[in-house]
Amino acid sequence: MIRDDFAQFIQRVRTLTGIDLTAYKRPQMERRLTSLRNKHGFPDFNSYLSALYANPRLREEFMDRITINVSEFFRNPDRWVDLAAVLRTQTGPVRAWSAACAQGEEPYTLAMVMETEVRRPYNILATDIDPRALAQARQRRFRTQQVQSVPETYRRRYFTQYGDEWELHASLARHVRFERHDLLRDPYPSSLDLIICRNVLIYFTQQAKHRVVSQFVQALKPGGILFVGSTEQFLEAHRYALRPVAPFIYQKVARE
Ligand SMILES: C[S@@+](CC[C@H](N)C(=O)[O-])C[C@H]1O[C@@H](n2cnc3c(N)ncnc32)[C@H](O)[C@@H]1O
Repeated sequence: MIRDDFAQFIQRVRTLTGIDLTAYKRPQMERRLTSLRNKHGFPDFNSYLSALYANPRLREEFMDRITINVSEFFRNPDRWVDLAAVLRTQTGPVRAWSAACAQGEEPYTLAMVMETEVRRPYNILATDIDPRALAQARQRRFRTQQVQSVPETYRRRYFTQYGDEWELHASLARHVRFERHDLLRDPYPSSLDLIICRNVLIYFTQQAKHRVVSQFVQALKPGGILFVGSTEQFLEAHRYALRPVAPFIYQKVARE
């Protein structure tokens, strides 16, 4: 039998980092990690793993390659307009969760939308598997290039510029609480009115995605909203007791 070097590697990575790479689509993950391994000249994953144990810098680089923290304020702006419209049809305080929030662009976007477009009381739990991304999010500091997608009026209202850096106001950030959370192994919060989880389900296997979405539905109150990424719509939403209310936005069906 051919020894599956990569399969053994991801088992051991779980022991080293706690991250279950078997739940991520293998071809992409294997391609990304093989190119990283090759860059350092390791002939196989076994020798690369020994180096990961020995060298914290390599470990950090490895974690960065796994997590892909690419994000953007107001990513797919039309979808945020739709989300605000949906939230305006409801009343009462909003308990929201931004899951896989990267450096905070998504929960901070939501905070701006809640303040200006929705105007309901709210608090946001923002989580990610990557502690380095969360540390950056808590700093509230973004480069000019990163805030370019923030509409001018919001940029003026919610940021202060210091040279090439823009600091998001603490008065907005106080609505957002950052915590580390692994969607594949940690318990989920409950009684939520809104879950935003965008551009991470695409990395998961079908089975893992099913597990995560089922847990999201359980975490939502009846009538609660699930907002996913623009490549992540569900063809069989009704199976999860979800109904589409706008593109990439679903509502948990209330029980009769
Ligand atoms: C491409 S970014 C998406 C960021 C943001 N949601 C957006 O759409 O702009 C993917 C994020 O998922 C996080 N992530 C990957 N696997 C995760 C897991 N198992 N649990 C929680 N977050 C995870 C990564 O650390 C990264 O910040």
